[in-house]
Amino acid sequence: MQFSIRALAPEKTRTGCLVLAAHAAENSAAGDTSSFTLARAGQLADRAASGALKRALAQGDLGAKAGSTLLLQRVAGLAAERVLLVSLGARGEFEVGAFRSALRGAAVALNGLGAKDAVLYATDFSLPARGLPWTVRNAVLGLREAAYRFDQMKSKKQSGPKLVSVTLALVGAPATAQVQGALKEAVATGDGIDLARTLGNLPPNICTPSYLAEEARKLARQFKLELRVLERADMEKAGMGALLAVTAGSRQPPKLIVLRYGGAAKKKRPLVLVGKGITFDTGGISLKPAGDMDEMKFDMSGAGSVLGAIRALAGMRAPVNVVGVIPTCENMPGGAATRPGDIVTSLSGQTVEILNTDAEGRLILCDALTYSARFDPEAVLDIATLTGACVIALGHVATGLFANDQRLADAIRAAGDDAWDRVWQMPVWEDYQEQLRSNFADFANVGGRPGGSITAACFLARFTRKLRWAHLDIAGTAWKSGREKGSTGRPVRLLVRYALRAHGARGASS
Ligand code: BES
Ligand code: MN
Ligand code: ZN
Repeated sequence: MQFSIRALAPEKTRTGCLVLAAHAAENSAAGDTSSFTLARAGQLADRAASGALKRALAQGDLGAKAGSTLLLQRVAGLAAERVLLVSLGARGEFEVGAFRSALRGAAVALNGLGAKDAVLYATDFSLPARGLPWTVRNAVLGLREAAYRFDQMKSKKQSGPKLVSVTLALVGAPATAQVQGALKEAVATGDGIDLARTLGNLPPNICTPSYLAEEARKLARQFKLELRVLERADMEKAGMGALLAVTAGSRQPPKLIVLRYGGAAKKKRPLVLVGKGITFDTGGISLKPAGDMDEMKFDMSGAGSVLGAIRALAGMRAPVNVVGVIPTCENMPGGAATRPGDIVTSLSGQTVEILNTDAEGRLILCDALTYSARFDPEAVLDIATLTGACVIALGHVATGLFANDQRLADAIRAAGDDAWDRVWQMPVWEDYQEQLRSNFADFANVGGRPGGSITAACFLARFTRKLRWAHLDIAGTAWKSGREKGSTGRPVRLLVRYALRAHGARGASS
């Protein structure tokens, strides 16, 4: 889908579909559906159409709820072929949630039309508290989210949306450089999100560690990034005993992918993103039950989000230095697999008693985190579908945030609110560390059921004492189950926003 942005007079706009917004009256839930207030572009179009839009609204066919839509064909006085009226809900309740519903409603309606192009009045959808650049970013990402399809594994492709180009139109506001920048940022971010979603959705017999390494190679070629892939022999030589323990039962060769984008001065310390890349998690010898095990193909979502974020930042030529570090392998049972009770020596030199082979994410991450120190990072963020316990704690709304530096945590939370890819902080207190006690090694890889997502973070904290570090547990947010099963692409939006706000030379306020 192509996007552009410009100031346009709504009545003269030639397009397959003109998308206009209206606020419902505060009392409209009580059934008074005739009282909508058209936003600015709608008012202008209505005047040119001699009141046809207001008359249509007075018929009561547009629902008051944000995201309800009403389609009008060939309105006399307007150059557009169709007009799509979208409810923003009541003005007093117009917040990010309603904005997103309105856009999703518009996107679903547009995707069901024969129109090839549409003009959406961004200024009409704009949230007063967030400003136009925010609206532009979120409009683009909302439309792209709804247009995403994954049908490459189907023998017959479903016919997707016909819509190929969308103009975000402005009235009463110029298309400033800042607004154009927001569009460029959103398109690149959308590309990164789509990449993360597709990598997540691909089946585990295709999306293997080698496939992820190949994908990184493609990005490196396309965006001129620096790439290094460590093979099993390199890991053995370095002493990555924890990572090697997880891959032991698999026929697929493990990889440690290091992908580097330099958009800022060489001397600027980089942001390091570490992504969990378990391309399938059976649990290993501590085998998982069969139900829903297919969803463990999404256990590489952290890796996918790192590749997606780097693609986004490189695609928009962001003024940041970022290194992606992706430990990737399968967690399989088998004659060569690691046993519960095995003790391994991690890259840090610390020994770990592996009491449960299903707690494998922390094992591959700990060696990757130790390895990350060599980049002298400004901050290290790891992103991982780490614990079922995090899903119990926060459900599918917030990503779990853990950090050893409160300013870093605050910056990540603020970026998450800005991007509407939200996180909620949990403690990494020393008090929890004793749950990892081991009689035989330095510590164990599991700490029992209480506070399971916290003890997982505490395990990682033992490898990041010298770093400014944060951990994102995306077990509840990286994918959806059920009818809508599929990757969400989270937290690419958050990572991109955080990188721009905290590590970019500009862009903090937009
Ligand atoms: N990949 C899983 C975590 C997971 C489970 C994410 C379900 C989303 C849904 C992880 O490797 C795992 O198996 N964690 C164990 C840890 C336990 C053995 C301490 C878990 O959460 O049960
Ligand atoms: Mn596991
Ligand atoms: Zn896992």
